[in-house]
Amino acid sequence: MDPTGAGPAIHYYMIRGGKEQKNITVWEPGTISGEYIKTYGHYHVGQLDEHYEILFGEGVALLQKLSLDEKGEMIADEVSEFKAIVTKIGDKIYMGPGYGHLLVNTGATYFATADDSPVDFEDRDPASFPGHADYAPVKAMQGFAYYVVEHNGKPALKKNPRYSAILKEDLGGLPVIE
Ligand SMILES: [Fe+2]
Repeated sequence: MDPTGAGPAIHYYMIRGGKEQKNITVWEPGTISGEYIKTYGHYHVGQLDEHYEILFGEGVALLQKLSLDEKGEMIADEVSEFKAIVTKIGDKIYMGPGYGHLLVNTGATYFATADDSPVDFEDRDPASFPGHADYAPVKAMQGFAYYVVEHNGKPALKKNPRYSAILKEDLGGLPVIE
């Protein structure tokens, strides 16, 4: 939300084991200019899905699907479906093909997940930029359609003004603030 905001040097840590061993992600707790620490968020390249299991902590998962133009290309600023899911330990979250996804640590402790996305060790920088994940659309829009921010000590959503439309949304019971 605020690229110039101050925060920890590293926001999250990943150990990539791929589909068999699983990938473990650990988030630092805290906020940056009021926004809770999150993973960057990406869309998958191709028809790839992913399963996340919540291992520890309190978090929110954000999923969004962009509308497609007549050529089947994603429309950068139009979200066809947005979903926020408040997680608890043991929850399993499915990221279907086409759904961009990120997770946010909204608790006071570390937040940790296990997921089964593949690791291709021929990638040049597989830990930071695995070949199956596209970060560019998220970078272009400076995040997803909503940011998860701290409001009176609790998570709330704040709209990202760069998106022109959200056609369908399920905010998981989280309030929206200006
Ligand atoms: Fe993914």
